[in-house]
Amino acid sequence: MSNTAEIKVDGKCYELPLVEGSEKEKAIDIGKFRAQSGIITLDYGFKNTGSTQSAITFLDGEKGILRYRGYSIEQLAEHSSFLEVAYLLIFGELPSKEEFESFKDEITHHTLIHEDFHTILEGFPSAAHPMGVLSSLVTAMTAFYPKSMDPNRSWDEVRLSIIRILAKLPTLAAFSYKNKIGHPVMYPNNKLDYCSNFLHMMFGLPSQDFEANPVVTDALDKLLILHADHEQNCSASTVRIVGSSQASLYASISAGINALWGPLHGGANQAVIEMLENIKADGGNVEKWMDKAKDKDDPFRLMGFGHRVYKNFDPRARIIKKAADDVLAALGVNDPVLDIAKGLEEVALRDDYFVERKLYPNVDFYSGIIYRALGIPTEMFTVMFAMGRLPGWIAQWREMRENKEPIGRPRQVYVGKTERDYVPMGNR
Ligand code: SDX
Repeated sequence: MSNTAEIKVDGKCYELPLVEGSEKEKAIDIGKFRAQSGIITLDYGFKNTGSTQSAITFLDGEKGILRYRGYSIEQLAEHSSFLEVAYLLIFGELPSKEEFESFKDEITHHTLIHEDFHTILEGFPSAAHPMGVLSSLVTAMTAFYPKSMDPNRSWDEVRLSIIRILAKLPTLAAFSYKNKIGHPVMYPNNKLDYCSNFLHMMFGLPSQDFEANPVVTDALDKLLILHADHEQNCSASTVRIVGSSQASLYASISAGINALWGPLHGGANQAVIEMLENIKADGGNVEKWMDKAKDKDDPFRLMGFGHRVYKNFDPRARIIKKAADDVLAALGVNDPVLDIAKGLEEVALRDDYFVERKLYPNVDFYSGIIYRALGIPTEMFTVMFAMGRLPGWIAQWREMRENKEPIGRPRQVYVGKTERDYVPMGNR
């Protein structure tokens, strides 16, 4: 195979290097093309353009493959834990037992947040969306940890910033929930594991001991694993481009939280449940809503369906769908929206519109059904996605920093007015 590609423009041929990754993916490196030709490439939404070479996550949209640092999500979801996967994504290898125990101990002993966060929390109206609160609180971490503002400090100090955000995000999320519902916050309990501690902070009450249901903690841990990274998705790309200006880790993560909030991205898990509730309230007529989803004049989209990369199935959706059945059965929950979701999937999988466009359930289609069964409020669903995605964002930010990648600054093709002279207001 040649290691170059040729682009011919106005009879002139430009030779460009070909890059091949460890999974034999190929890319044309256009880094020098503009300098040689004065021409740029254009690709709305970067649908066909790579922004980097990354060693973190590999996915194959045709085969439904997703691997973190070479390990399949099927194996990690079955045998690993979220904290172990976080270590794998951020440091590149699975930890030894000693490394993991030390990492877990560090996380456990950084879960508290400064008491002054309560002043910030109390400033939010109770109607504030948890994602807006969370991104604000993560940015506020720069105020409490001013050394975190400089990403060029020693690795030990950057590592401490990483440990702090991993440890404190669940606390920030749970405290904001308690503040929203007017309940007293539940402080982290160092005797509990990551998921149990989060559930304790979310649903515990001062007047009673909290006993986490292992079915719930296992399901939550699995969901966090399945959300942990997804290569150059919208929010990870946001984290990388904000971090490329040498903004702090916390500023970059806060930007990622805001990108994830959108209903076309992580906000879809909340939109799916709201959609399913609407369909249920409308009598459960699945065919009617499928027709709306196919109608170009109707803004309604089937939330939780379709994906930029997966064109056969989202491997995470398969695992989550099975987990939804298992968790609801184990908890004795009979949620009618699960049946509506399955009905939509069945109809879509044999509908030409969806089959031709390769639209299948994505990670967000079934996850909300489990979150709801776990007692997580709908407005917190995307916060759960952010908690899961945090180690991925950190890994992506770290890779961009350590590869010394340049500040992200795309080009454009100008289509506005050509040069014209100013006309004084009285003469217009
Ligand atoms: C996530 O990138 C990632 O990796 C993201 C993510 C991650 O882990 O980080 O996987 C998480 O964001 C999952 C996606 C969650 N979003 C949704 O469920 C929202 C509904 N889905 C869509 O809006 C859409 O499918 C996207 C945003 C997910 C993908 O959009 P694309 O790749 O830009 O595709 P498109 O919008 O150009 O759609 C192609 C065609 C269009 O029809 P035509 O113009 O060709 O006739 O498919 C249609 C679209 O109208 N289409 C849908 C549809 N999704 C696409 N029609 C109805 N319902 C849908 N859900």
